[in-house]
Amino acid sequence: MMTKVGIIVGSLRKDSVTKLLAENVAPMFPEGVETEFVKIGNIPLYNEDLDTEENTHEEYTKFRNTMKEVDAILFVTPEYNRTMPAGIKNALDVGSRPYGQSIWDGKPAAIMSQSPSGLAGFGANHDIRQGLVFLNVYPMQQPEAYIGGSYELFDDNGKLNNEDTKSFLQTVVDAFVEHIGRFK
Ligand code: FNR
Repeated sequence: MMTKVGIIVGSLRKDSVTKLLAENVAPMFPEGVETEFVKIGNIPLYNEDLDTEENTHEEYTKFRNTMKEVDAILFVTPEYNRTMPAGIKNALDVGSRPYGQSIWDGKPAAIMSQSPSGLAGFGANHDIRQGLVFLNVYPMQQPEAYIGGSYELFDDNGKLNNEDTKSFLQTVVDAFVEHIGRFK
């Protein structure tokens, strides 16, 4: 049976390094695992007034329906002010409602953070982990993926140019596929 991994990218800008990283990682998944980039940039900030029984914002419904179809989630994120970017927090909130119908519940996940700095998005990575605990998502523990010095890792065509990073990321993907297998 096909496994579907939803990839959520924390940066919304078109020249995002996080997006580049995610685009390089997606083809590392083996046959039998499909990846889908799930867009979060058009989801309005969570507001219960836009989420009533009579009237739910169409972007909330669209996101929830997409996420219901995925078996696992890969978060690829930059760090904003030592925390996760607001877009990811908003996606977590929107997906968690209506109460009792969370689309996150019980799903496995993995988190990759990147930064041009050496701290490699550690704060964002763990900020997401904190939210996932409450949402009953199972983030892979090891290997952790903190990608530092990210501006130096890509060639002019946006391809990873560092063999050590490529091989490390492949190790992370392989472990994630094994992790997902525990929940099937
Ligand atoms: C940043 N940046 C950043 N970097 C970091 O390592 N720790 C941080 O706390 C922050 N804070 C921060 C806040 C805001 C609002 C912005 C826009 C940026 C720098 C960030 O790592 C850098 O811009 C990355 O290139 C962002 O990822 P994308 O957009 O290239 O994917």
